[in-house]
Amino acid sequence: MAKFKVMAVCAGRKGGNGEALAKEALCAVEEAGGEVELLNLFDYNILPCTGCEGCTMQMGKMAAGLQKEYHGCILKDKDDTDAIITEMHTCQGIIFVVPTYDLTPSSLYTRLAQRFLAYELSFLLAIGAVKENPHTVAGLISVGGSMHDWQSLALESLQATMFTQSLQVVDRYMATRDGRPGNTFVYADQLPRARKMGENIVKAINTPVEERGWLGDPNDGVCPNCHSSLVYPGDKHWDGIEFPWECAVCGAGGTLGTNPETGRPMLVIDPKNGLIRDRNNDKARAEHLNEINKTRDEFFAQQDQIKDQMKKYRDMKFPTLEIKR
Ligand SMILES: Cc1cc2nc3c(=O)[nH]c(=O)nc-3n(C[C@H](O)[C@H](O)[C@H](O)COP(=O)(O)O)c2cc1C
Repeated sequence: MAKFKVMAVCAGRKGGNGEALAKEALCAVEEAGGEVELLNLFDYNILPCTGCEGCTMQMGKMAAGLQKEYHGCILKDKDDTDAIITEMHTCQGIIFVVPTYDLTPSSLYTRLAQRFLAYELSFLLAIGAVKENPHTVAGLISVGGSMHDWQSLALESLQATMFTQSLQVVDRYMATRDGRPGNTFVYADQLPRARKMGENIVKAINTPVEERGWLGDPNDGVCPNCHSSLVYPGDKHWDGIEFPWECAVCGAGGTLGTNPETGRPMLVIDPKNGLIRDRNNDKARAEHLNEINKTRDEFFAQQDQIKDQMKKYRDMKFPTLEIKR
């Protein structure tokens, strides 16, 4: 078996439930002969994305042949994010274990995830900054004090952060009713499920890339494409495309139907064009780049007309909270 490395990225408390579940998953990887690594994000300095769009502007310029070298994120030398993402790129599998705060992944994790944009894997591969696509697989664990009803956006929001890193999610698990540290040990099923996650990651790594697929609960979620539980009635896209229902995570489109096995609602993906917006697919994601470029071009074409308005609003001042330091 070829050598492989799996990292667990945990955003939970030191000695908390998430760390225990991450460790159990990594034990399974280690027993299967893999190298393992556990990063608790509380140990690192991660600055929030400034929203400058310096990265995507550079990517656009390089694609148009207007810039030779990619300088990356403006925060690159100011915190630990670059080191974390560089290390992620040395792994064939990553398990994200994130506590649920206010139904969603905690901000410590989303801070890191929103910095992924400057490291868009397909772009780094295109410019040779990353030599070979590691075809990294991912497992997701959300850890909450409540059940699904209070973690309703947790796994889906985690899934939504996978696309820029081209991470293929092969399993996901929601650990429920884990309030105080150690709560997970009260239940007989949580550590074994985390172990299964580790085993599934190893199984995926050892499966040829083109044959890899979903290894989690086959009836998990509503979307048969990405297993998310969130669909919504679709609206017109920027180019006129419209689906009756869309998966909020992967963008698959179709109608609402019933899962013949479970009798529960499911998204029935349109066999003709339901996957043309599949965010798991690099080509479909490139279409989104066309959207961004079109919006940007249209804005630049009208910039002169809105110059005065921009200045007016930039100069407008309101009372704010001043902190004396
Ligand atoms: C600010 C805050 C918000 C929280 N919001 C939720 C929530 O919306 N849903 C939930 O299930 N648990 C919520 N919790 C509970 C945590 O998800 C829970 O304590 C979890 O075990 C943390 O994982 P850890 O033990 O790995 O730190 C919240 C906890 C905090 C501190």
